[in-house]
Amino acid sequence: MTDGVDWLADLDRVLLPESVLRQRVRELAQAIAADYAGKDLLVLGVLTGSFVFVADLVRALDLPLEVGFISASSYGKQSASNGQVTVLEGLWPELSGRDVLLVEDIVDSGHTLAHLRQELARRGPRSVAVCCLLDKTERREVPVTVEYLGFSVPNEFLVGYGLDYAGRFRHLPYVAALKAEAYQGKDEQSSEVLDDVGAE
Ligand code: PRP
Repeated sequence: MTDGVDWLADLDRVLLPESVLRQRVRELAQAIAADYAGKDLLVLGVLTGSFVFVADLVRALDLPLEVGFISASSYGKQSASNGQVTVLEGLWPELSGRDVLLVEDIVDSGHTLAHLRQELARRGPRSVAVCCLLDKTERREVPVTVEYLGFSVPNEFLVGYGLDYAGRFRHLPYVAALKAEAYQGKDEQSSEVLDDVGAE
């Protein structure tokens, strides 16, 4: 039941339809499977945005693997110069000697990924690579390496396939751009909304 309000009214257009995502995920999985044959693969998703991508990616991977998730929060997205990232310690699995594939939904400024690469390195894995669905290259503030990239995307507010706006729209099976008027002028709202405007 809905309250009669069109809950998709804030969407501008679909950028990456379901079929396009499915095909690209299949291609990424084939490349990863070829590279990780015979290795001890641990797929490590970054909560929350990666959960849909991880679910589809691992089901397309024809090789043995384990799945885990970690949580990272960044501060200073408003100032865009701080980029301080903290990780939730309790979720980290044992990485020693593992071949870790870190999976992200999107790389924006690059601060989160840069920090997570440092965190991973000090936990002693045998190897680390990054698989990221979307890359907003023009917003990069720190250089990062992404070994497996789905799509380069324009600097628009994107939702769906794990990406949210103030917690909403993560479950859309496609990636869509949000109408500018949906998030502009929301200064009175929560800091979560403001954070999400900086980088979804
Ligand atoms: C998003 C995304 C990355 C990060 C990228 O997460 O999932 O982790 O931002 O931004 P950066 O390159 O500027 O560091 P977000 O903080 O929106 O959390 P979420 O995954 O829970 O939505």
